[in-house]
Amino acid sequence: MNNGPGQNWKCQPGHRTSRRRRYAAAGVAVLWLLSIAVAPAAAQTALGIDSISSFNADTVPDPPTFTLPSSSNLSVSVAFCSSNSDSTPRFFVTNSSAVSTPSASGGDNVYEIDLTDGYGNFTGLFEEGGVLAVEDAGETTFEIGVSENGPIHQSLDQLPLLGDTTSNQAIIFSPTFELSGWAEPSYPNYTLPDANLTFTEPSSSSNFTIFLVETDTSGSLSSLPQTACVLASQTSAGTVTNESAWLRDDLGWRTQWIIEGLTPSTNYTAYVVRAGTQVSQPMYFATKSATFNCPLVSSLPFCPNIAYPVPLPFPESTTRYDASNIPDSITDPLLSSITNLTVSLTSFACGRDLYSPLVTCADCQREYRRWLCTVSFPRCGEASPSNPDAVTSAAPNPTATGIGAVTHHSKHNKDGAETSTVRSALVPQASGSAPRNSNFPTVDYPYSMLLPCLETCTAADRACPNFLGFKCPVMRFNAAASYGVGYVDSGKEDGEGDGAVSSLQDRYGNIWCNGG
Ligand SMILES: *[C@@H]1O[C@H](CO)[C@@H](O)[C@H](O)[C@H]1NC(C)=O
Ligand SMILES: *[C@@H]1O[C@H](CO)[C@@H](O)[C@H](O)[C@H]1NC(C)=O
Ligand SMILES: *[C@@H]1O[C@H](CO)[C@@H](O)[C@H](O)[C@H]1NC(C)=O
Ligand SMILES: *[C@@H]1O[C@H](CO)[C@@H](O)[C@H](O)[C@H]1NC(C)=O
Ligand SMILES: *[C@@H]1O[C@H](CO)[C@@H](O)[C@H](O)[C@H]1NC(C)=O
Ligand SMILES: *[C@@H]1O[C@H](CO)[C@@H](O)[C@H](O)[C@H]1NC(C)=O
Ligand SMILES: *[C@@H]1O[C@H](CO)[C@@H](O)[C@H](O)[C@H]1NC(C)=O
Ligand SMILES: *[C@@H]1O[C@H](CO)[C@@H](O)[C@H](O)[C@H]1NC(C)=O
Ligand SMILES: *[C@@H]1O[C@H](CO)[C@@H](O)[C@H](O)[C@H]1NC(C)=O
Repeated sequence: MNNGPGQNWKCQPGHRTSRRRRYAAAGVAVLWLLSIAVAPAAAQTALGIDSISSFNADTVPDPPTFTLPSSSNLSVSVAFCSSNSDSTPRFFVTNSSAVSTPSASGGDNVYEIDLTDGYGNFTGLFEEGGVLAVEDAGETTFEIGVSENGPIHQSLDQLPLLGDTTSNQAIIFSPTFELSGWAEPSYPNYTLPDANLTFTEPSSSSNFTIFLVETDTSGSLSSLPQTACVLASQTSAGTVTNESAWLRDDLGWRTQWIIEGLTPSTNYTAYVVRAGTQVSQPMYFATKSATFNCPLVSSLPFCPNIAYPVPLPFPESTTRYDASNIPDSITDPLLSSITNLTVSLTSFACGRDLYSPLVTCADCQREYRRWLCTVSFPRCGEASPSNPDAVTSAAPNPTATGIGAVTHHSKHNKDGAETSTVRSALVPQASGSAPRNSNFPTVDYPYSMLLPCLETCTAADRACPNFLGFKCPVMRFNAAASYGVGYVDSGKEDGEGDGAVSSLQDRYGNIWCNGG
């Protein structure tokens, strides 16, 4: 997004006012005259830098003009807080002291603020300050923001990230707001992180808030612009029971929200709002059905990527598992494996010698941890409502590598061509069946297991040196159906990135396989 001055300049150049030239000739008098030129504005409402002002039909000044402060890089932004079919307000701005009321009739240095989906902004040089004027405000409620750090009101390109859901809980992450700050160690003191990771909280706070609403395509929210002031006027669904900064992966810190009190089998739309004025794109998801039994596990420092339901008994005296109540019988062997891998790995002169031009010992430990956590914590899933074909009706062939992403479907599209359906890598597990991870207890309820994505294995294989002997199953030859195959990568030689969906999950709540 480039919002340099001149970006939004729309009006055709009108006649050049001669006033400035006359003042220039007057030398010292210029400053004094300039203040006179702005003087009529004293009667107008002044908007200061870093101000956010809200107006409605009763509070909009008469005349509806506002003075703007002088600045070398001023951004004026507008957000609608209501919509009204009777009027479409238009906003005009000038950075010229020669124009007292910028309007649709244009003129030199008069610009209209383009409004899209309830948002508008203008950034430019305001050497002498300026004036903002509103036309046809009607009954519309709107906010005006003035800033020197870019538009205060913005529609962000970013999306919230779904961890996962249960029948009445959801775990959602904000976009990243700060890098991890972890620096690769160097030889001879090449010290890798401990099996049980410790984090230093980020220096900044994210200033993100979460907003959830039941998806209702015909409802009151969908008819309004999706601005922060509109969202603030609605009630967010559920209750945020835990909010914390979380370093889920090496992309950086996110805010993690655990939301409870949701309704089973319901479609929700989630937004994150930054600093109370900047709204992300919507992310859609559905809660699981009321019969879904698996409890949520999250916030494990040694497995920071785990934030999903697992086949465990419902925890005592709380609604979810975290580091404080996850059984030692699960964590001890996992931590031991990471420690052992780290010992073997650092027998290599990490940081001095290279086993690959692309990856380091730290990459190997990180990808191994991610893979180990993903396979050690079996994931419960359910077919997504927007993809009801996702469930497999029968257990997969035990001689296959895993469940393939694409199956040919007898459906034909309107041109008569055969269509393929992408199914999530779900395997039904009967009540009392042996758990995939033998350190897990047997549970007395049926569930569907979402297989790990084969890519979590290949990522560890690529990042680790050969001498560790880490191997992933290949398509042709393998003992057990253990992975979801063909979602991100095709699973064939050189098939990187050309899988059926090219992602582990999407913004519509589909989670194809367990990418951790
Ligand atoms: C108004 O904006 C134009 C375009 O950036 C600039 O050339 C002009 O100097 C500005 N005028 C004032 C008084 O800031
Ligand atoms: C004006 O400020 C915005 C936001 O801080 C920045 O992206 C832009 O580069 C600045 N423009 C100029 C000309 O300094
Ligand atoms: C500012 O407005 C322009 C259109 O006038 C739009 O393309 C751009 O995305 C807006 N910038 C922000 C940060 O919202
Ligand atoms: C090696 O690095 C670790 C962590 O980076 C540090 O705690 C330790 O003091 C260092 N040891 C030496 C001998 O420099
Ligand atoms: C991991 O470290 C945290 C402190 O950072 C500690 O509270 C927790 O008990 C440790 N977990 C295990 C399994 O050792
Ligand atoms: C949020 O959850 C984490 C991990 O479960 C816990 O350490 C933290 O204390 C909780 N914070 C609050 C405010 O409850
Ligand atoms: C966070 O946003 C609020 C508005 O919601 C603002 O007042 C505050 O200054 C912001 N804090 C930071 C650290 O950006
Ligand atoms: C890690 O290594 C120790 C010592 O060799 C061994 O006793 C232990 O079983 C290993 N842990 C795992 C999970 O393989
Ligand atoms: C949820 O959305 C899906 C499409 O994404 C739709 O098929 C389903 O009927 C919706 N469910 C409800 C309860 O609205």
